[in-house]
Amino acid sequence: MAQAVWGRESELTLAARVLEPGITDPVALVLTGEEGIGKTTLWGAVLSRAQERGFQVLSARPVESEATLAFAAVADLLRDGFDQAVVSLPAPQRAALEAALLRGDREGIPEPRAVAFGFHGSLLALAGSAPLIIGVDDVQWLDAPSARVLGFALRRLERVPVGVVVALRAAPDAEVPSPLGLDGSWPEERIHRVPVRPLGLEVLRRVLLSKLGTGLPHWALVQIHEASGGNPFLALELARALVRRGVDVQPGQALQIPERLAELLSERLALLSSSVREVLLFVSASPQPTPTSIARALGDPPGFGDDVQAAVQADVIEISGDRIRFSNPLLGTALYSGSAPEERRRTHRLLAEVASDREERARHLALAAEGPDERVAQLLEDAAQRARSHGAPDAAAQLAELSRALTPAERVEARNRRTANAGRYAFESAQVERAEELLQEAAAASTSCRGVRAATASMSRTS
Ligand SMILES: Nc1ncnc2c1ncn2[C@@H]1O[C@H](COP(=O)(O)OP(=O)(O)OP(=O)(O)O)[C@@H](O)[C@H]1O
Ligand SMILES: [Mg+2]
Repeated sequence: MAQAVWGRESELTLAARVLEPGITDPVALVLTGEEGIGKTTLWGAVLSRAQERGFQVLSARPVESEATLAFAAVADLLRDGFDQAVVSLPAPQRAALEAALLRGDREGIPEPRAVAFGFHGSLLALAGSAPLIIGVDDVQWLDAPSARVLGFALRRLERVPVGVVVALRAAPDAEVPSPLGLDGSWPEERIHRVPVRPLGLEVLRRVLLSKLGTGLPHWALVQIHEASGGNPFLALELARALVRRGVDVQPGQALQIPERLAELLSERLALLSSSVREVLLFVSASPQPTPTSIARALGDPPGFGDDVQAAVQADVIEISGDRIRFSNPLLGTALYSGSAPEERRRTHRLLAEVASDREERARHLALAAEGPDERVAQLLEDAAQRARSHGAPDAAAQLAELSRALTPAERVEARNRRTANAGRYAFESAQVERAEELLQEAAAASTSCRGVRAATASMSRTS
């Protein structure tokens, strides 16, 4: 988190409004900007300052492959403060929160409202001892149950010293609503939107120097600044490509700038050895990769530690706490999408073997399947039911759709039942159109199907 941040003085001045020592009311800072423009760097700098000023900082950095993992972000936010947060909660709320976060041996069905109230109570408890900052990077990838619970709790905070610092990927100056449903529930003047702008030439020069450890001739810098539009991620990739090819190009001679970012990224990844790339593919395919989990999936190969170090050295991944993450999500996406389908299937198959969470395991098996597979469809059906029972209908709906898609054509009854389940969970997660489609399909296929009757009954009870 504490990496050097160059420039950004005006953004940090605006951010300081969230970090007033005497804050009494909730405030939010929403950092928006395009891919690679520097949101995470700025977000991290704001959080570091908050820590220096004595705020308690709860943070979560969801990644795209985690967006389906129910309550992953809430669990991250309460990672350190859980015990303090829940100590004075009413027992049902505490139990619901424990079950939702899969803490301890709590089983059973937490009531969604109890989870939401429990989280709200946790924030109040923590903010009672020191002002609180809740930081969420890449908030667009928040898993849906966490987004609901967090939004619910934040909207109900009044006269509580809580600052929210989120980074949101969005096109420059796009009219996107504030995340977590804050618009309309908090007064406008307490939501500070800060567009993260392109970097100027001088700041970019310092970023490139500090990251690459080597200066570039001024003319090359000017061309990189222009070609990247001041986007530091793109500029770094362009500069790396230039250094790779040799900077002894003459001034005035056009830089050979590959047009597509994907091309640059795969060129950079291709420099790594095949065993490092294999490790990275496993990282890109895992929702919450740790060195231990990846090593196990790979069968504890002898050179694993060196491979991880090589990837850190190449600034492709970083390790914070026990979590591995790509230094920029685009690198993970490039690697995953650039690998062969059979390699991806093998990766998911091996990850499934070591996944301790049954829901995660079922998802990996679904992504490893070459075609319809009854065993996997059944596992997904069970995982969907469990997700629903711990208050995550969105995850349940996705798992049920996968289960339905992987059901062999001849298993007519199972397919109808899974279609009906997918419809019911879609309805429960407010995807009404999809619910209607699925339930109609199931009803048309079999009017006597028990699943359809149950689903229709549950719809009429809920509506
Ligand atoms: N102000 C800065 N000072 C130093 N380095 C920076 C700065 N801004 C960005 N960088 C570097 O540029 C790269 C891209 O920045 P960052 O990851 O913060 O972008 P992002 O907007 O979060 O990207 P994404 O949308 O993909 O999440 C990183 O390597 C980061 O270290
Ligand atoms: Mg980022």
